[in-house]
Amino acid sequence: MRTQVAIVGAGPAGLLLGRLLHTRGIDSVILEQRSPDYVLGRIRAGVLEHGACALLRKAGVGARMDAEGLVHAGVALCFDGTARRIDFDDLVGREVMVYGQTEVTRDLMDARAATGAPAIYEAQDVALHDFDRDHPRVTYRKDGITHEIACDFIAGCDGFHGVSRASVPPAAIQTFERVYPFGWLGVLVDRPPVSPELIYVSHERGFALCSMRSTTRSRYYVQCSLEDEVGAWSDDRFWDELRHRLDPASAATLQTGPSIEKSIAPLRSFVAEPMRFGRLFLAGDAAHIVPPTGAKGLNLAVSDVAYLAEALGGFYADHSSDGIDSYSVRALHRVWKAERFSWWMTTMLHRFPDSSQFDRRLQRAEFDLLMDSRAAAQAMAETYTGPVM
Ligand code: APR
Ligand code: PHB
Repeated sequence: MRTQVAIVGAGPAGLLLGRLLHTRGIDSVILEQRSPDYVLGRIRAGVLEHGACALLRKAGVGARMDAEGLVHAGVALCFDGTARRIDFDDLVGREVMVYGQTEVTRDLMDARAATGAPAIYEAQDVALHDFDRDHPRVTYRKDGITHEIACDFIAGCDGFHGVSRASVPPAAIQTFERVYPFGWLGVLVDRPPVSPELIYVSHERGFALCSMRSTTRSRYYVQCSLEDEVGAWSDDRFWDELRHRLDPASAATLQTGPSIEKSIAPLRSFVAEPMRFGRLFLAGDAAHIVPPTGAKGLNLAVSDVAYLAEALGGFYADHSSDGIDSYSVRALHRVWKAERFSWWMTTMLHRFPDSSQFDRRLQRAEFDLLMDSRAAAQAMAETYTGPVM
């Protein structure tokens, strides 16, 4: 088989790249190691920046998002029981869309199926070859048979544990990493959210977050220890802990119920540089990870592939390599801003095991600055809602 761009991974990065290339008349084949049901079964965050929404609409995959997504014009920050709102509309005139990553993925899968563009699921042993030359190849095994795809470019959209980044010679890549000494225990519940907007909570006992998937399904998190086991957290224990960390008004109105999913996720910041190696490009979680506190993971995947589609579009339309030559620098510029923001939100709101009363006072001062200074709140709102792409 031959294609112009071989895409490894059918997460949001790979599927959206395929879609953006299709709208430019560029062929792609997507290779995914899992089944579609497995991919759609993963529970991930779902806050879309203003620019990401615009891009999905432009790519023709925004209709269900606009019909079912929830537009949020602000978030609440709550510090030791006092909640205050950051008003995005007033501060920056932009909003975000709460629409689950799973739904974005489903819309992209459906759109691809409708165009008939190939997506090969349950592709085993995907291997990348010759991306340091002009004619790269990707091989994979399916139903016991080995297949080869000849291509012009490979897009590594296969997440943090994928094969693409691991295929780069170690001397050609530099990585930067911070692993945080705590996790998030998440619970999904079929109850209306405690508040129509997200609440990010900093409490002496640790961070908490009130989020949602719809007006009837909520997603809640509490910071936990990395040594904690999900089994040690009964639903009752979870709700008690969440109530404890919330402001009194929210704690009193929180609607609890049996969890329909409960899991612990670690928090990590990670960046690989560069994001291009000859004819291989990395995009999304394959190149970088942010802790979920700033809700930037999905948005970075979207901006990476927007840049990459533009770069490849320039290559095929004008025989120009300017876009592909600048992809890595352009993407990393945006990535590091999101890394800073996610690290800052994480540091401001979490309890660190070795933190002192001095550190807690600094966190309080950071919160007070956001509440007292329009400029500080504006900077937060601008970054949370994202740049105009
Ligand atoms: N071969 C083929 N596919 C692979 C391989 C492999 N060796 N390794 C991983 N994959 C697939 C995974 O099964 C997954 O479906 O690549 C896909 C990567 O998808 P994601 O992990 O969702 O990553 P990405 O598309 O970059 O999306 C980033 O996901 O983790 C969140 O916060 C993050 O929201 C962000 C988004
Ligand atoms: C979520 O809804 O899962 C979510 C929302 C915002 C975040 C992180 C996770 O910052």
